[in-house]
Amino acid sequence: MKRVAVLGASGYAGRELLRLLRGHPRFAAPLAMSARRDSGAEAAASPFESSVAPLDLEQLRDVDGVFVCAPHGAAAELAAEAFARGAAVVDLSADFRLRDSARYAATYGRPHPAPAMLEHAVYGLTEHARSRVRTARLVANPGCYPTSILLPLLPLVDAALLDAGAPVVADAKSGISGAGKAPTERTHYGSVHENCQAYDVGTHRHGAEIAQEVPALRVVFVPHLLPAFRGMLTTLYLRPRDGVGADAIRSCLAEAYAHEPFVKVYVNGLPHLHAVQHTNFCALGVAAAGELVVIVSALDNLVKGAAGQALQNMNLMLGLPETAGLG
Ligand SMILES: NC(=O)c1ccc[n+]([C@@H]2O[C@H](COP(=O)([O-])OP(=O)(O)OC[C@H]3O[C@@H](n4cnc5c(N)ncnc54)[C@H](OP(=O)(O)O)[C@@H]3O)[C@@H](O)[C@H]2O)c1
Repeated sequence: MKRVAVLGASGYAGRELLRLLRGHPRFAAPLAMSARRDSGAEAAASPFESSVAPLDLEQLRDVDGVFVCAPHGAAAELAAEAFARGAAVVDLSADFRLRDSARYAATYGRPHPAPAMLEHAVYGLTEHARSRVRTARLVANPGCYPTSILLPLLPLVDAALLDAGAPVVADAKSGISGAGKAPTERTHYGSVHENCQAYDVGTHRHGAEIAQEVPALRVVFVPHLLPAFRGMLTTLYLRPRDGVGADAIRSCLAEAYAHEPFVKVYVNGLPHLHAVQHTNFCALGVAAAGELVVIVSALDNLVKGAAGQALQNMNLMLGLPETAGLG
């Protein structure tokens, strides 16, 4: 049995990891630690939760893998400590997703907290980075929005099926858990209930991550908040190159993901949130819309967009079956 630790275990992503790890066949009960406020409280909140202890990095000496589920900025320091103690590290924050520290500073408004670590980081969109993840010691788990956008786009870019001169519009909608557990004016119940709002248009930080991974495309990324707790639905509007229609786009995706356990390409119809909530699936559906093609990409932001993809990556890093613990 391998030993793993979850740092930031009292947050939404950390708790989701604890839920998944409970059913993992090759991991012993995880060390669950949290920074500040809620240590111990989660155990009282639910009889099914592992207890969450205060952060004690000395305990990381004996673990094989560490999941860092803290906010960006703080996460880099925790990841560096775990890395120095010899653990395989999957960081769920944005701290190691951007390869260029100048781009990080421009996007996050502060210098990178651990620039010397960037050379070790692999961007862990698992389906497209499997061989690099297997040998990595530090994996930057992709953001939830980028996962929902890059999984459908990358095979089409590789196959040169898109009109390179036309922008791709990514109209993306997330459940409120994507914003973490601390309420803000935008995310508290009264603002979200029976509402839907676009936010951070043209400035959302995930835009930099998407641009890094598909530099040849201009992606117009418009995030929205849904009046739902979990789930993400992204509608992509794209112009294929001449002679390419919706059927060719669907075939390309179906072929690219034919052997992938966690990406499903619909033969007919379009996915919705209920189809993917609480699962590690990203579901893709394709439809013709005049001269454009529409792709709908649905996933659970807390699972495929965070904890589930992190577990896929950790499994690979520790030499286990990629699907272990993921149903
Ligand atoms: N939510 C999502 O859908 C999602 C998706 C992809 C990636 N992520 C990323 O995953 C990370 C966690 O997200 P979340 O939604 O779970 O956030 P969250 O609900 O706000 O939880 C944050 C966690 O980090 C801990 N923490 C806060 N400040 C800290 C510090 N200075 N040092 C160490 N730990 C600290 C908190 O501990 P206390 O409770 O003790 O304060 C809590 O356990 C973030 O980097 C986020 O961007 C989240």
